[in-house]
Amino acid sequence: MPRILKEWLWIDYPSVSSTNDIAKNYKTDNKEEKVLITAEEQVKGRGRRGRTWISAKGNLFMSLLFSTKVSPSDIAFVTSLSIAQTLKKADNHLNVNIKWPNDILINGKKVSGILIEVGESGIVVGIGINLVCSPAQSETIYTATNLKDEGIDISRESFLEKMLDVFADNLKKCEISGLQAIREDWLNFAYNLHNSISIRQGNNFQSGIFMGIDEQGFLLLKQQNKIEKISVGDIIE
Ligand code: BTN
Repeated sequence: MPRILKEWLWIDYPSVSSTNDIAKNYKTDNKEEKVLITAEEQVKGRGRRGRTWISAKGNLFMSLLFSTKVSPSDIAFVTSLSIAQTLKKADNHLNVNIKWPNDILINGKKVSGILIEVGESGIVVGIGINLVCSPAQSETIYTATNLKDEGIDISRESFLEKMLDVFADNLKKCEISGLQAIREDWLNFAYNLHNSISIRQGNNFQSGIFMGIDEQGFLLLKQQNKIEKISVGDIIE
């Protein structure tokens, strides 16, 4: 049965292929309608760049479907910042970072990932949060963690309630004033800011100092005496 949670029409499924697939095909009645799809399990959870998102029961799999004038790339910043802030609200001592563009880390280990797509009725923001378990090192290309192992005991619903408030706040700021309204807050969580990083873009690798992000969300990479603007890629250590 659908419910209303913080102005979102919330539909929770026992099992789906991927909450993003359900959200992408969902037809809203009007542009104002905001839909939250969750599932207890995903059998074809998808990650960025065609990767699989291992979706064990007990973790949170959610997709937000809504309309906005904010660009998908700025929505990625809104979402990653909102998750990071929600985790800090749950426990202010947590060592939370955002690894550009939008992996959420606790103590350097990935706890959450975001997959943004465009659906029939608007933008689809897919979020996976490891609440109680995380894939083994052999199953992923990164080291993962989960909130339970980091000492945070939080239910799906409680996390959703907190996160939807923070998300609404950040989205509103961006709708009014653009990315610059949340850029400083985002940079406060940025992983390896002012340090040496390597970025992979397909088979291409670039190294330099991570100087920040510009007003369009491009990563600024200092190489010798020039600043390179990077739009897509993955930071690898
Ligand atoms: C990544 O880090 O590669 C992104 C992972 C995104 C996973 C979430 S889980 C809910 C939604 N449904 C999916 O199939 N993927 C996203």
